[in-house]
Amino acid sequence: MKKIVLSGIRPTGQLHLGNYLGALQKFVRMQQEGIYDSFFFIADLHALTTQPDPAVLHANVRHIVAEYLAAGLDPEKSTIFVQSDVPEIPELYLLLNMHVGIGELMRTAAFKDKARKQLGITVNKEGDDDSDVAREIIGNESNKRVNAGLLTYPTLMAVDILIQHADFVPVGKDQEQHLELTRRFARRFNSFYGVEYFKEPENFNFGGKPVKVPGLDGSGKMGKSEGNCIYLVDEDKALRKKVMRAVTDSGPTEPNQPMAEPIENLFTLLKLVSAPDVVEHFTTAYNNCEIRYGDLKKQLAEDILKITAPIRERTREIENDDEYLARVLKQGAEQARERASKTLSEVRQIMGITPFWK
Ligand code: ADP
Ligand code: TRP
Repeated sequence: MKKIVLSGIRPTGQLHLGNYLGALQKFVRMQQEGIYDSFFFIADLHALTTQPDPAVLHANVRHIVAEYLAAGLDPEKSTIFVQSDVPEIPELYLLLNMHVGIGELMRTAAFKDKARKQLGITVNKEGDDDSDVAREIIGNESNKRVNAGLLTYPTLMAVDILIQHADFVPVGKDQEQHLELTRRFARRFNSFYGVEYFKEPENFNFGGKPVKVPGLDGSGKMGKSEGNCIYLVDEDKALRKKVMRAVTDSGPTEPNQPMAEPIENLFTLLKLVSAPDVVEHFTTAYNNCEIRYGDLKKQLAEDILKITAPIRERTREIENDDEYLARVLKQGAEQARERASKTLSEVRQIMGITPFWK
């Protein structure tokens, strides 16, 4: 039996370099290994937790499927599907929610983060004791609201994974807490019903550690909500401009001086996209106080474009090919539903809701 790989991305906009290096590139590599049964999907139900405009959501699903294919996911080798095409997922989500605590959901970092945003609470960096979110949610007298879908986001994600019995879930570091919850829900289900039914999935990283792609604005990670993204479909000129505008400092004044965060970020990116001798060249230049950040940025922009430009061109070709996209997604939905419907009927059996009158 082949090990099962599964992962998804929410269709909340075009994919950026962080999504690619942290997630999509791993998907493609795992597919190419040829030793896994792999499932890659677009998490459109998860996107609903932040209430997108329906037309924008539609356009994003289409765009991301095209980006998946353009980056090298192959419908002959992987199952590529849209989450909402698998109705077994929402049904199992309802069932699994019966074993999930609202307290553990409220303590999830991603929930607290998004709930604070929806409630308009500013983050208190010092005494971040969670009580602000809980108090606001329960005692909320204003008309701001945190929707229940956002709270149960981790249940839905656990179901995506457990319904296909995935062994490996390649995701970026920020998703590890959700994966930990998935394992906890699987263990709880198994022990409650006294069955060895669900597997406990793991993250997967080539070379050990999950990558965190930094933004070019000096600190933190590259992310849609951070507004600091290099998109896979950025045109050459726009991309070069973004890289050239990256924050730097006035340069090292002593040999082997420790790097400030914005500079370290540039080197982190360089290590992810450039050849080892290029990294070596600029590291030596930095350590000898001979570095010219302009040269470093030029090189970085060209090496990023080597990765993104071919993906951009293929995305443009595929994105408007309705017939091809429909064929891929129809086949993907059928394949994904095969195992999902088997899992759902087994879980119904285990939980005691198989109708005796049929
Ligand atoms: P965003 O943070 O831009 O909203 P998502 O949360 O939709 O991106 O992430 C989709 C996938 O891409 C996840 O697996 C996530 O871990 C990964 N990812 C997103 N940003 C980064 C980043 N800066 N570095 C590494 N991986 C990332
Ligand atoms: N929560 C993930 C993200 O924001 C997307 C996602 C939904 C996912 N379901 C999943 C990732 C199942 C892996 C497996 O990136």
